[in-house]
Amino acid sequence: MKLCRMHLNILVTGGAGYIGSHTAVALVEAGFRVVLLDNFSNSDFSAVQRLRSLVNQEVPFYEADCRNKSDLIHVFNSEKEQGCPITGVIHFAALKAVGESVEKPELYKLNNVGGTERLLEVMEGFGVQSLVFSSSCTVYGEAENIPVDESSPFLPSESPYGFTKQACEKSIVQHAEKNIGFSSTLLRYFNPIGAHPSSVIGESPRGVPNNLVPFLCQAVAKLRDPLTVFGTDYPTHDGSCIRDYLHVMDLAEAHVKAILYLLQAGNSMGCRAFNLGTGHGVSVLEVIETFEKVTGMKVPHQFGKRREGDVVAIWANAERAKQELKWETTRPLGQGLLDSWNWQQKLGEEFDL
Ligand code: NAD
Ligand code: UFG
Repeated sequence: MKLCRMHLNILVTGGAGYIGSHTAVALVEAGFRVVLLDNFSNSDFSAVQRLRSLVNQEVPFYEADCRNKSDLIHVFNSEKEQGCPITGVIHFAALKAVGESVEKPELYKLNNVGGTERLLEVMEGFGVQSLVFSSSCTVYGEAENIPVDESSPFLPSESPYGFTKQACEKSIVQHAEKNIGFSSTLLRYFNPIGAHPSSVIGESPRGVPNNLVPFLCQAVAKLRDPLTVFGTDYPTHDGSCIRDYLHVMDLAEAHVKAILYLLQAGNSMGCRAFNLGTGHGVSVLEVIETFEKVTGMKVPHQFGKRREGDVVAIWANAERAKQELKWETTRPLGQGLLDSWNWQQKLGEEFDL
C-alpha cells in the first residue's frame, strides 16, 4: 500500500523527552506531520524549541498529561478540527527512573500504566488504530538465554518501573484482542545513548543521572565525582556488567519504520514485539575504554560494589526487527559516546546541578 506521509498525523507522547524528541525529528524528516504532547515532568519547553529549530518547522505542541482523559480528548479533537485527525500514536510518555520507582511504586503505576490505559481509551473513541509503544528489555529480567529474543518470557520484574512496562504491554495486547483492527508494535529498547549529531537536542537528565553514559559524561566534565563502576566480580570477561548500547538516532529511525509497518499492515496485524538493540554486548569497562579512545578524554573512575537489581549481562537478538521492520543499527558505540560527549559540552554551564 502506498501512503502519503504528509497526510499522516503522528501524535508523539513524551515528545519533549530524550527519545521522543529525536524520533519527532526523524518523523518530520521522513515527511510526516507530527504533533507533540508532554507534561514536562521530566523535560521543559526548551526541548520543543530546540527541536523546532532543528527541523525549521513550528511542530505543534500540547502541554497535556496522559493520565488526564480530558487533556487527551482535547489534543485529538483539536487536531481533528484543524482537518488533521491523528492517524497513529507513538507513546513515549512515562516515568523511567528505576530507583525512584522503588520509592514511589504507586506513582509509577498511575503514570505509566494509567497513562497508557487512558490513551488506549481515547484512541478507541477517535478510531485511531495504530500504536507504537516504548517498552524495554527490562521486561525480560535476568534472561536465561542471551542474546534474548522476543519469545523469552517476562520474568518477575526487578523494579516497579519494569513491572509497569510488562503491565502496559499486557494492557495493549488485551486492547488489541477486544478491538478488531487495532495494531501495535511493542518496541523493547536496550540501552539508548548518544544525541543528535548537531548537538541541538540530546538527553537532559534532571539531578544525578542513574544511567552510565550521562553520569560518565558529567564525571568527565567535572560536574560530578568520578564514575563508580558498579561491580567488578561479575562472571563476565572483565568482571563488569554487559549491556547493548544503541545510538538514539538509530532508535529514532526504528520508530519511523515501526509506524510505517503498522500503517501499511492495516487492520490485520494485532500486536508484535520487537527487540531494538545492536545485537552486541559491551562491558562497562569497554564503554570507558571506547569513550577515552574517541574523545581523547580520561574518564575518572573508581571500582565499587554491585548495584542492587542489576542484571549481569543482556543484549539483543534483533533479527526480527531486521527481517520485518527492515531496521538495524548503523552507528557504532564510539559514535554514540562521542555524540553524548559533544552534547554534554554543549550543555556546559547551563547544566542544572
Ligand atoms: P524522558 O524522561 O526523557 O522522556 C519521557 C517524557 O515523557 C518526558 O518528557 C516527560 O516529561 C514525559 N511524561 C512522563 N509522564 C507523562 C505523562 N503522564 N503525560 C505526559 N508526558 C509525560 O525518557 P526517555 O529516555 O525519552 O524514554 C522514553 C520512553 O522510553 C519511556 O517510556 C521509557 O520508559 C522508555 N525507555 C527508555 C529507556 C532509556 O534508557 N532511556 C530504555 C528503555 C525504555
Ligand atoms: N553503571 C555503572 N556506574 C554508573 C551507572 C551505571 O557502573 O554510575 C553500570 C550499571 O551497573 C550497568 C550499566 O552501567 O551495568 C548500564 O547501567 P544503566 O543504568 O545505564 O542502564 P541499565 O541497563 O541498568 O538500565 C537501563 C535503563 C532502564 C531500562 C534498561 C533496559 O535505566 O530504565 O536500561 O532498557 F529498563
